[in-house]
Amino acid sequence: MKFFIVGASGLVGGSFVKHLKEKGHEVVGTHLTLPTDDTVYFDALDLDNPQNFDVKNYQPDVVVHCAALANVDYCEANEDESYEKTVSTAKNLVELCKQLNAGIVYTSTDYVFDGTSGPYVETDDVNPLSVYGKHKLLVEELIQKELPDNGIILRICGVYGDEIRGKNFIIRIINDVKDNREWTMNLPQDQYATPVWAMDVAGAAVLLAEDKKSGIYHIGSTDFMNRVQLAHKVLSYLPNHKCTVIGKNTNELGQAAARPLMSGHISEKFLSEYPDYRFSNVDDYMRYKTS
Ligand SMILES: NC(=O)c1ccc[n+]([C@@H]2O[C@H](COP(=O)([O-])OP(=O)(O)OC[C@H]3O[C@@H](n4cnc5c(N)ncnc54)[C@H](OP(=O)(O)O)[C@@H]3O)[C@@H](O)[C@H]2O)c1
Repeated sequence: MKFFIVGASGLVGGSFVKHLKEKGHEVVGTHLTLPTDDTVYFDALDLDNPQNFDVKNYQPDVVVHCAALANVDYCEANEDESYEKTVSTAKNLVELCKQLNAGIVYTSTDYVFDGTSGPYVETDDVNPLSVYGKHKLLVEELIQKELPDNGIILRICGVYGDEIRGKNFIIRIINDVKDNREWTMNLPQDQYATPVWAMDVAGAAVLLAEDKKSGIYHIGSTDFMNRVQLAHKVLSYLPNHKCTVIGKNTNELGQAAARPLMSGHISEKFLSEYPDYRFSNVDDYMRYKTS
């Protein structure tokens, strides 16, 4: 199968490329502003850009759409830009998939929920609280309407793993400790989620794509925790750290975008179809990083 990963210089897209290569699939991954050894240039907002990789000639079976503006507070203050980078890119890629008769895999979020009763299953009612969540939901609706039999929507949250920019929560802590930094983190003790390893997201999605599944799948791991618990778990593997963790309530933190508080995903639907699939958890990842 041929895969085209849009946003492969990022955390999730980069993990797709790595996983697909390990599995022996043909794959092309793209960047926009951060060229890597593994990527080609492609702007999902401007499909006619002559510098773009020639995707029509490549003829992928599956397009994995990982390009977005994922900074939720920035999106809250920059609604038009959020719409462009999340919704307009998706409109373009959905149209491209229809022209190429390709499937799409889309990485969505728990921010489509309001966080009153998580962790959530796929049939729970959505009610996004933020610009980012509203725009991600618009894309989910678009894919379900335009590619009902050829679209996989993965809802994920708190993704961690190795990435070039080193910006996810866990890798930042690891790097700060490596740099011998002394610092204090004020973290929300009332925001619960199901952090998941990016390689597990890719692994689950590729199984679904290989089997030509469609529809919404929730992908969480076995962890369900708040940010303070997550930070303590990570730091417990880094005994020489000089980090102080202070738990705060969300309303003390002044975050621009409202967060779903009791959130996260239950992977029961996915696991009922793939009962042998084993999700890693934060302990597994930290053992791997510190061994
Ligand atoms: N990380 C999470 O915890 C999480 C949770 C839920 C959902 N998601 C979703 O998963 C997806 C990937 O997230 P991520 O954390 O991997 O994001 P990321 O690390 O910020 O990567 C985003 C990628 O999109 C590319 N990109 C941005 N604008 C583009 C455009 N116009 N055309 C083509 N590529 C473009 C970026 O390219 P350059 O870097 O080269 O500029 C980068 O490769 C997003 O849709 C996000 O909403 C992530």
